[in-house]
Amino acid sequence: MLATLLELGIPHEDIDAVLATKIPPSLSERFAADVEALTGSVGTIDELPKTSPPEDAPAFYGVLVFAAAVPAVKAYHATRGIPEAMTRLILTDVGRQVAVHRRRHGRPGIDTEHWLTRHFQGRIFQLGRLQFEQVTLGTTTGTSLREAGLPYGPGDPALSIHIPEYCGPFTPEAIDDSLAQAAAFFPRYFGDYDYRVAVCHSWLLDPQLDGVLPTSSNILAFQRRFTFSHATAGEGIMRFVAAGTKLHETVQAHVAAGNSWQSGSGWMLLP
Ligand SMILES: CC(C)(COP(=O)(O)OP(=O)(O)OC[C@H]1O[C@@H](n2cnc3c(N)ncnc32)[C@H](O)[C@@H]1OP(=O)(O)O)[C@@H](O)C(=O)NCCC(=O)NCCS
Repeated sequence: MLATLLELGIPHEDIDAVLATKIPPSLSERFAADVEALTGSVGTIDELPKTSPPEDAPAFYGVLVFAAAVPAVKAYHATRGIPEAMTRLILTDVGRQVAVHRRRHGRPGIDTEHWLTRHFQGRIFQLGRLQFEQVTLGTTTGTSLREAGLPYGPGDPALSIHIPEYCGPFTPEAIDDSLAQAAAFFPRYFGDYDYRVAVCHSWLLDPQLDGVLPTSSNILAFQRRFTFSHATAGEGIMRFVAAGTKLHETVQAHVAAGNSWQSGSGWMLLP
């Protein structure tokens, strides 16, 4: 178990607490069902239904579910010939979420289980600075591509780009490198899908940031890579902008003035 927790990137300071966690008998059936739901979904692309751990679950319930599912995702990646190092790299996102939980809430635990289900479906990979998730194009983004005259539309395969925390500079060079890695990785290991389109749905693509951030901003440089498709109400910025920073003050002032932040969606063609 220790080796698995280290593979999941669980912060060292939390390892003893996870090892000491026991699933109470009242939750043992539910725990087995959660593990089965996850391992049974390996290799699937559609997002799993959102479920939360039981209210009385121990703080590291989700980590134990993920630890039990590690062999299944490893076996699936192996069938595709994906190097073990790639599997380990994406699985460390579990530990990243434990670290993020401590920063946000000031106590140990994990509360982003739904986000991490895709990791155990085996359909997201970290390639350099960015993570790439295998998805199918939704109606709005797919229609935006079609209207641009491109031969892609709703239901076609695409890679959804995610920006993990604690992964170093977000420079244009780092993004170029990531995109080039994705353009090589997916045809090699997922040649049965035609991944030409990348999409992103994030607070980083809120057009209102243009005007708030400096012109030298990495976020704006990233935003400009995408053709904007649409925006939806989104609280992402509230979760991802660190308290006590200048940007946090600006974000709050915008809300105090009666405005709201959005999650922007856009697409680009892979290099
Ligand atoms: C993506 C990320 C690395 C970009 O950071 P960056 O490279 O510093 O971005 P920019 O160059 O555009 O930053 C412009 C300014 O905003 C600040 N800023 C950027 N992201 C910030 C954040 N999350 N919290 C607080 N301030 C932030 C920068 O420090 C900089 O401030 P300055 O002008 O006083 O120097 C950073 O926002 C981050 O780590 N976010 C968390 C992950 C995330 O949001 N993922 C997307 C989830 S949908």
